[in-house]
Amino acid sequence: MHTEILRTDKDNPDPEYVREGARILKAGGLVVFPTETVYGLGADSLNGEACRRIFEVKRRPADNPLILHISDMSMLQEITESVDKETVEKLASVWPAPLTVLFSKSSKVPDQVTGKSPYVAVRMPDNRLALDLIGELGKPIAAPSANLSTRPSITDSRHAVMELDGKVDLIYDCGPLKYGIESTIILLSKHGAEVVRAGSFPVEDLREIFGDIVVSDVARGLRSADTPVAPGMKYRHYAPSKPLLLCSNIGLFRQISSDPSLKNRVLAIGINNMLDGCSINTISLGNTYPEASARLFSSFRQFEMSPEKLAVIHGFSESGIGLAIMSRIRKASAAQIDSIEELSRFLS
Ligand code: TXA
Ligand code: MG
Repeated sequence: MHTEILRTDKDNPDPEYVREGARILKAGGLVVFPTETVYGLGADSLNGEACRRIFEVKRRPADNPLILHISDMSMLQEITESVDKETVEKLASVWPAPLTVLFSKSSKVPDQVTGKSPYVAVRMPDNRLALDLIGELGKPIAAPSANLSTRPSITDSRHAVMELDGKVDLIYDCGPLKYGIESTIILLSKHGAEVVRAGSFPVEDLREIFGDIVVSDVARGLRSADTPVAPGMKYRHYAPSKPLLLCSNIGLFRQISSDPSLKNRVLAIGINNMLDGCSINTISLGNTYPEASARLFSSFRQFEMSPEKLAVIHGFSESGIGLAIMSRIRKASAAQIDSIEELSRFLS
C-alpha cells in the first residue's frame, strides 16, 4: 500500500495536514502520529475493524489492549462508566500529560480495543498535533506505540518510516519527541493508585495528586507476571535485534568500556560522564536523565545498525524518570552481567 509521509512541526502543525490525517482516520485508515512520549499507530477508536487492523499491522497479540487518546474531558464520559467528580477534576488539572488511567469501560468501546480487560485505558497526550488530530476526528484515537510488536518503541520519525512505510496510510514526519519513554499507567483506588507501568510521568508527582502510590515489581521491569493488570507487561518488549547487556555496577561498565581489546566487538551506551575515557565505540545518551530518556530507544536502533555484536549499558538510579528508564532497560536487555567473564560468554 502507498504510505503518505507528511513533514510538519509537531508543536505548530499545518492545519491542512491535520485535516488530511482526520480524513484518513474517518475512512478507517491508520495514521502514525507524534505524542509527547513515543509515536503512536492510530485508528478511530469506535471503528472496531480499523482497530483490528492495528493488531494485524503490528503483529500484536489480540489480548493486549490499546490506549484511547482524548483531546477534551467530555470524551472521557463517553468511553467510561461513571467516573467520580473528584477524579475528573484531578485529571482535568493534570492532563494533557504522559499519564494513562484505567477506568471501567463503557459498552461503546469495541472489544477489539480492550480485549478481555475489564478496563479502558485513557490519556490526553501533551502534543499539539495529537490533540488537533483527535479534535478534528471528534472521537478518541486508539493507539499503541507505533513499533512492530517486541521491537523498541519509535521515538524518531526516521525509524517510523523505516519500519512502517508501505504498511500504514499516513506517517507524520516530525523528528524526535520530547520524553522518549511511554506514559505511566495507573489504576486508581480509594486511597491512592497502583502504578502498573512506570513511564514518563514521575511517581513522585503522582503522590502529590493521588495519595498512596504502589509500584509493583512488574511495573519496575524486575519480574513478569502471567496475568498483569496491563496485559502488555507479560510480553517481551523493546529488545534490540542483538544482545544488550546491563552491567550490574558502574565499575564493571567502566572496566568493559575502557578495554581496547573489545573495540569493534562491544559497544558502550551511556550518559556522557560514564563514557569518559572509553576505548570502545559509544552511543551517547546525552548529559542528563531527561536526555537519556529521550534518546534511549533511538540508541537501541542505532546499535542494531552498528557492526558490534553486543552492547553494554550502565544502570540508572530509580528516582524521577530513572525508574522508567531502568524498567525499559531491564525488559530490553538479554541479561544483567556481574563480571567480565559473563561478557565473554556472550562473545564466544
Ligand atoms: O505513551 C504511551 O502510552 C504510548 C503513546 C502512543 O500514547 N502508547 C503506548 O501504548 O505505550 P502500548 O500499546 O505500547 O502500551 C499500552 C499498555 C500495554 O501494556 C497494555 O497492555 C496496557 O497499556 N493497556 C492498554 N489498554 C488497557 C486496558 N484496557 N486494560 C489494561 N491494560 C491496558
Ligand atoms: Mg508498546
